[in-house]
Amino acid sequence: MANIYTLRDFFGGQWSSNARLDDKTIIITGANTGIGKETTKDLAKRGPRIIMACRDVEKAERAQREIMEESGNQNIVIRKLDLSDTRSIREFAEVINSEERSLHLLINNAGVMMCPYSKTADGFEMQFGVNHLGHFLLTFLLIDLLKRSAPSRIINLSSMAHSWGTITLDDINSERNYHSRRAYGQSKLANILFTRSLAKKLKDTGVTSYAVHPGIVRTELKRHMNLGLLIMWKVVRPFTKTPVQGAQTTIYCAVQPELDAESGGYYSDCRPSRCTRAARDDEMAEKLWELSCNMLGILWD
Ligand SMILES: NC(=O)c1ccc[n+]([C@@H]2O[C@H](COP(=O)([O-])OP(=O)(O)OC[C@H]3O[C@@H](n4cnc5c(N)ncnc54)[C@H](OP(=O)(O)O)[C@@H]3O)[C@@H](O)[C@H]2O)c1
Repeated sequence: MANIYTLRDFFGGQWSSNARLDDKTIIITGANTGIGKETTKDLAKRGPRIIMACRDVEKAERAQREIMEESGNQNIVIRKLDLSDTRSIREFAEVINSEERSLHLLINNAGVMMCPYSKTADGFEMQFGVNHLGHFLLTFLLIDLLKRSAPSRIINLSSMAHSWGTITLDDINSERNYHSRRAYGQSKLANILFTRSLAKKLKDTGVTSYAVHPGIVRTELKRHMNLGLLIMWKVVRPFTKTPVQGAQTTIYCAVQPELDAESGGYYSDCRPSRCTRAARDDEMAEKLWELSCNMLGILWD
């Protein structure tokens, strides 16, 4: 049945909604594959304008055709965005701020996991740079548009892997010591702390924020996993989610009306979930906010 979306995964309980998003504008990063593509497909059926923010435009065009065909929504556009380069992020935001009259939903979905040590164009460790700093800057550059469009929402894709890392303030780029799994954990922890800080700083603006753990999902994310982890992956594979199932908590946070009254929380399986103590540390959230602003050369109170 069209516009009824159900989570069948036995980890996740049941959830469905036929909420419409006509006249809304949505940006989703990393929309060309995996969870991002399935989220886009579902939201497209609800009638909004969607901007697919992707670095690989050809791959995005293939996904766009599929999404348009399946949803019947022709108001899906692609804009180039490479989160590993602040110049690309600024160019993207300039296009959005000049072309779009409103923005109701920003889904910071793109991510890279456990890649070999490398740096972004600006010299940030890749996972922290893309997963956290890239989305931090993007949100900063679009915040006025989100405020003018309120009620509006920001969704940050985090992970249960936030428990793998800590925020290493004195070696945030892992220059002294790089461990790919811990660096991924640090970036996903940063996503939750960012979500909490956003909720505080955007109080009474009508802009709300949510962090999501999508589940363990069969996507391209595992492309950098080593042999040991790939073997472990094969073992747990029967218990993992499909990308459609993995998109459900993001969709829930995007459309559930009651969530207008909540902000700053962490969600999994389409309901509020418990994150680690480190992810509830508001003092660290503030330090991370300051550090992020300094690294990006921006002022954001
Ligand atoms: N899959 C899981 O089990 C799982 C679990 C917990 C959390 N998550 C989170 O869910 C989100 C989506 O992951 P997924 O599983 O759907 O992974 P995926 O299939 O690998 O998709 C990741 C997306 O991010 C994009 N991306 C990567 N680097 C980028 C950059 N520098 N600039 C712009 N886009 C970039 C990719 O673009 P390209 O196609 O160009 O590479 C792709 O569209 C991530 O934030 C991930 O951390 C996933």
